[in-house]
Amino acid sequence: MKRALVMGNWKMNLDYVEAVHLVQQLGVLASNRPLDHVDVVVVPPFVDLRSVTSVVESERVPVGVGAQHVNPLESGAHTGEISAPMLRRLGVASVLVGHSERRQMYSMSDDVVAQTLQAATRHGLAGVLCVGESLDVREAGQHLDYVADQLRSALEGLSDTQRELVTIAYEPIWAIGTGLSASTDQVREMTEHIRVVASSLSLANARVLYGGSVNAENAGAIVRESGVDGFLVGGASLKAESFWSIGEAVDDCYAGRAT
Ligand code: 13P
Repeated sequence: MKRALVMGNWKMNLDYVEAVHLVQQLGVLASNRPLDHVDVVVVPPFVDLRSVTSVVESERVPVGVGAQHVNPLESGAHTGEISAPMLRRLGVASVLVGHSERRQMYSMSDDVVAQTLQAATRHGLAGVLCVGESLDVREAGQHLDYVADQLRSALEGLSDTQRELVTIAYEPIWAIGTGLSASTDQVREMTEHIRVVASSLSLANARVLYGGSVNAENAGAIVRESGVDGFLVGGASLKAESFWSIGEAVDDCYAGRAT
């Protein structure tokens, strides 16, 4: 059985002092309630990464560290950008690719998403490809085709080694930060669809996450009833207790399956 994955995308929140505090709190929660079946990853802003990787290492906090974005190029005259080798050097193991906020607010095209996933995985970073439709697309009944197109455009042309580093996160834009998560039926339909499309692109084993207003109250039901392999959490990852509770809900579900 695949291990579950719960990632906390902090977005543009928490400075490095707050970040260190949160990770230390996660360390305490983890020693009180270890998660046997769940990989936990925090995804802080760039400026927090060094402090967070240091605390994770020195205090042995059982979480991975990811970045929110990366430039597809390795170095050069790209003011304000960060490359995959720079992230690797910091001990960062994964990166979000094509989050809808970057696609919408920072004009990240499908082509740039594909180049970014290529570069990240070529440098050994686990790439978390974010896909998901707007409300207009869903209301027009186009959500399955829309997400299939996003997947094909980003995943075609990856080598076998690169494909092993890919996770897919389904985040419907209308559910992000709204307090209104997708229903378990909606998540199940899309998760099954993503697995079919991913298999046709030789990614049958990729983990599929759901993101969009996940919290400690709804996480258990979604993971139990929809077939996702975990969550990409925004707002509820900014407090140690609520984030760890989501991990616990997923862990309980997986522990039930294992027995
Ligand atoms: P919320 O959990 O705040 O809805 O954010 C989801 C998200 O965008 C995670 O990447």
